Amino acid sequence: MSSINYNEKIPNNVNLSEDRTLQRALEQWQPNYINWWNDMGPDHSGNFDVYLRTAVSVDPQGWAQFGHVKMPDYRWGIFLNPGDAERKIHFGDHKGEKVWQDIPGEYRANLRRIIVTQGDTEPASVEQQRHLGLTAPSQYDLRNLFQINVEEGRHLWAMVYLLHKYFGRDGREEGEALLQRRSGQEDNPRILEAFNEETPDWLSFFMFTYFTDRDGKFQLCALAESSFDPLARTTKFMLTEEAHHMFVGESGISRVINRTCQVMNELKTDDPSKLRAAGVIDLQTIQRYLNFHFSVTIDLFGADESSNAATFYSTGLKGRYEEGKRMDDHSLKNDSYRILHASNGNLVEKEVPMLNALNEVLRDDYIKDSIGGIERWNKVIEKAGIPFRLSVPHKAFHRNIGALSGIKVSPAGQMISENEWQARKNEWLPTPEDRAFVASLMGRCVEPGKFANWIAPPVMGVNRQPVDFEYVRFN
Ligand SMILES: [Fe+2]
Ligand SMILES: [Fe+2]
Repeated sequence: MSSINYNEKIPNNVNLSEDRTLQRALEQWQPNYINWWNDMGPDHSGNFDVYLRTAVSVDPQGWAQFGHVKMPDYRWGIFLNPGDAERKIHFGDHKGEKVWQDIPGEYRANLRRIIVTQGDTEPASVEQQRHLGLTAPSQYDLRNLFQINVEEGRHLWAMVYLLHKYFGRDGREEGEALLQRRSGQEDNPRILEAFNEETPDWLSFFMFTYFTDRDGKFQLCALAESSFDPLARTTKFMLTEEAHHMFVGESGISRVINRTCQVMNELKTDDPSKLRAAGVIDLQTIQRYLNFHFSVTIDLFGADESSNAATFYSTGLKGRYEEGKRMDDHSLKNDSYRILHASNGNLVEKEVPMLNALNEVLRDDYIKDSIGGIERWNKVIEKAGIPFRLSVPHKAFHRNIGALSGIKVSPAGQMISENEWQARKNEWLPTPEDRAFVASLMGRCVEPGKFANWIAPPVMGVNRQPVDFEYVRFN
C-alpha cells in the first residue's frame, strides 16, 4: 500500500518502517504538513537551494550534515537520543521507579496537553517569521533564518511523532489541529501569547531567537527530565538544534550593536536622530526592543503560583531545569520559594510552597541564563569605548500573566501609577516610530558577502565556509 520508503524519506532512529500504524498515521499527516509549509512557511522560497544542516542520525557525525537543498524537500527526520535501559525516575512521587516507555492512563490528559503546547510553538514561530526572508540583511542571515525554520518544522515532527505513536486517535486529531491553528489569527490562534505576536523585522527576529528560543531551551530541559522516556529522549535531541537558534539571536544582536558603535565612533555622536540618519539602530531603541521581548517571553513560563505546575512535577511529567544536578530531596513537599506580589503600592516577597512555585523557579533560572548574553553585548559596547549599558528590565515590568499582571512597574522595578506608565512607556517599550524606523532599514541585501548597512558581518561563516559563500541559490 505504501509507495514511500519512509526510512529514506524521513531519516529516523525509531524503526519507522516496522511500525505500520505509525507509518499510516504519518502518511496521512505528511501531505498536510507540506501544504502547511507551502502556505505558511518562508515566503517565495520554494525554489531556493539553501545550504542547510540536516540531521540523519544522533551521533556526532550524523546530526549535522550540510548541503544545498530545496526546503520543501528537506528531510524532516524523527530522532530520539539513545535510551538508557536502567534509567529511573528521579523526582516526584514515583522517584526510584523505572521510567515509563508507555503512558500511564491517569497521566494521559496532562501529557497530551504538555506535548501539544510545546508542539504548537514550533509551527507558530515559522509563521511569525515567514516574511523575513524578503528583507534579509545578507545571504548568511537568510540561510540562518531558513535553518531555524526547517528545524522548528522538525520539532513539530518530533511532537507529532509522540502524539501519533502514543495517543492513538486523540493524538492524530491533535496532529491535525497543530497544522490548523495560525499565529495571530483571531478565530484559531496559537496557544501561547508570545507566539501570536508579530516578528516584523530582523531586530525582532534576533531578539526572538535570543529570548524566546531560550524559553524553548528551558521548557525542553524541563521535559528532558520527564519520566515518560520517549518525551525525555526526543526533547534531548531537540536541544542540540535549539543551541544554534540562540546563537543566531545572540550573534545577530551583537553584530547590530557592533555596527551602531562603529558609526557612533565615526560620527562622534550618541544622538539617536543622527545615528538614525546614518542608517543604524541607536542603542536606546535596541534597549526598548530588549525590554519588550524579555517581558513577553518571561510570561511564557506561566503563573507564578500554579497547582498544575505542582501536579506536573509530583507526577513526574516535567522536572526542573537541571533536576539531576540539584542537591535537594527532589520531592519538594516541605520546601518553600519566595515570589513577588504587589502590596500597598510596593513589590514585596511572600513565601509559598515550592511545588506551587515551580513556574517561577524555571522563570528565575531562565532570567539568570539570559543575562549572560546581555553582558557579552555590553562587552562590545565597552570595547568601542561607549558609556552605555544594556540591561534586562525588572521581572515585574510589563507582565501579563500571574500576580504581576495588572500592575505597572518601571524597568528598574518601581511600582508606578497608570498615569506615570502612560507618560513614560515610550521610553521603555518600542514605539510605533521605533518600529517604523527599524522597518525602514529592512531592505533585501542578498549578494554573496554583502551586508546591510545596519549590521556588521559575522566573524565566521557557516560550517567553516567563507562569509561570502553562496549560502542560498535563488535559481
Ligand atoms: Fe523548536
Ligand atoms: Fe528554536
